[in-house]
Amino acid sequence: MRLDKLLANMGYGSRKEVKQLLKQKAVTIDGVEVKDPAMKVDPEKQNVSVFGERVEYVEFIYLMMNKPQGVISATEDKYDKTVIDLLDPLAQHFKPFPVGRLDKDTEGLLLITNDGNLAHNLLSPKKHVPKVYYALIDGVVTQSDIDAFAQGVELEDGYMTMPGHLVILKSAEQSEIELTIQEGKFHQVKRMFEAVDKKVTYLKRLSMGSLKLDKVLELGDYRELTEQELALLFN
Ligand code: URA
Repeated sequence: MRLDKLLANMGYGSRKEVKQLLKQKAVTIDGVEVKDPAMKVDPEKQNVSVFGERVEYVEFIYLMMNKPQGVISATEDKYDKTVIDLLDPLAQHFKPFPVGRLDKDTEGLLLITNDGNLAHNLLSPKKHVPKVYYALIDGVVTQSDIDAFAQGVELEDGYMTMPGHLVILKSAEQSEIELTIQEGKFHQVKRMFEAVDKKVTYLKRLSMGSLKLDKVLELGDYRELTEQELALLFN
């Protein structure tokens, strides 16, 4: 890989700015000052440093965000802020995208990465990756809803969902539930409750496969996945 591309990719500025760094003699390879932006470098084998600090080359970025309401799960939007707008410029530099969509008014776990293969595996309908949601429901959720979801319910467009596992945390005029589903149809949780004549008034995703929302993350905050979380995801 070209030296200027490596440094630009790792967030050291545009190629032009990287050229300036090289002019300033800020960059060394294996301890030797280098000036040629086109120089070929193998970041796995060679020690590239900027102002004496080693450049750790990584290709992929894996972030967990606690998505707040009011932002769109997309990379860009004409009208609204996106989850990518909430990332710092260095993270944005990796050109990450959200893995799947949460509605604008849904909160909770969102994986953001630039690893297309992982995203594909997690989203593939064939993989049946379970997603757990917490929701507040307008209406009394009962055993008959548990039974209906366990069978699969027919959505308004005729689609028959796969079985969902519904747990009632509180059954009242305002019910509280946890629902595990293995699909990701548009507005799926909301539409499943509509199918049993109830309305979701608050929705939060708690987990996706092995990945669980870190409770210490405030709404809008994010962090890199740990080695352990990554190992489980790639299993
Ligand atoms: N189901 C929904 O209805 N909305 C979401 O954001 C996620 C799942």
